[in-house]
Amino acid sequence: MEKNIMDYETVELDDENDALVIIDQTKLPGTTQIISLKTGEEIWDAIYLLKVRGAPAIGVAAAFGIYLLAKHIKSDDFDTFYQEFCRQKEYLNSSRPTAVNLSWALNRMDKVCQSNREKPVAEIKELLKQEAVSIKEEDIRVCRAIGEYGLSLVKPGDGILTHCNAGQLATCKYGTATAPIYLGQERGYNFRVFADETRPLLQGARLTAYELFSSGVDVTLICDNMSATVMRNGWVNAVFVGCDRVAANGDTANKIGTSVVATVAKRYNIPVYICAPTSTIDMATASGADIKIEQRPEHEVTEMWYKERMAPEGVKVFNPAFDITDHDLITGIVTEYGIAREPYTESLKEIFKRRCD
Ligand code: MRU
Repeated sequence: MEKNIMDYETVELDDENDALVIIDQTKLPGTTQIISLKTGEEIWDAIYLLKVRGAPAIGVAAAFGIYLLAKHIKSDDFDTFYQEFCRQKEYLNSSRPTAVNLSWALNRMDKVCQSNREKPVAEIKELLKQEAVSIKEEDIRVCRAIGEYGLSLVKPGDGILTHCNAGQLATCKYGTATAPIYLGQERGYNFRVFADETRPLLQGARLTAYELFSSGVDVTLICDNMSATVMRNGWVNAVFVGCDRVAANGDTANKIGTSVVATVAKRYNIPVYICAPTSTIDMATASGADIKIEQRPEHEVTEMWYKERMAPEGVKVFNPAFDITDHDLITGIVTEYGIAREPYTESLKEIFKRRCD
């Protein structure tokens, strides 16, 4: 029997073969191709080209990636080892700028080196592996907890709209925005989900619709410019989306088009929930104005996915990968420690206090 997409691991470590193993998400849904990445360049490219994508999955891939690169550093002298570790870390960190999980995971790995500097390098390498495995295991627990809190915000039969893919393929299991949907599915909630196709890279069509459909969820794919229509029709009770970075005031960077969805939802009094592991909340960034937005190449808009180019040769193209949803458009930020609400400058601090307790 053919394997269901939900039975695959998004990101795996193959330590025996010194490889990071991922599903190449650029090929989905047509082809399920599992690829092994060994060099720093292969890992960097896979993140940049969105073969592995979604903030939490990028973090886990980077953690396994830096472990594998560290494993190959020849020196037994800590200072020489650490200098090369930092070089590789900065290189991986440069692959995508907006998702804070990338630097968050790499910094966790860095701390392992720094706090064990008196130990033999071979032992530090083993500790790096353990940390990367913990980052992956935590991601699964965190997504499930977000799912439980998210599920408390909706009721059986509700219509849910989501944008991009904050699903299992963007994490190690459950997803963030999809976690309440999957938990609801297990408990007979019979949600009706609307998935925005998400131009220009079609994560909603290729990944979210695929995941949910493969899981037996009632999912309807819509073009991005149809969300106002389904909301006006009264078919949507809540919007659940993921995020790449949440600033201390609640402003949120997520896939381009999220702010349009949130603005329209406000018009129709539909609550907007951002599903955010605390690893995606960046208290060092004051507001959305301070978040660096990744700009992507023109061909993603003009020709990628099309049989032929769909725009005049030479036309100007603006292709930001993310936008900022202002905090006043957000009804709640659903974390693994509970739901933060306005004023976010206070409630997000409370969430972090719970994390430390
Ligand atoms: O460019 P992508 O596909 O990596 O963008 C992904 C998103 O915008 C997701 O919503 C976000 O990373 C959250 S994933 C749980």
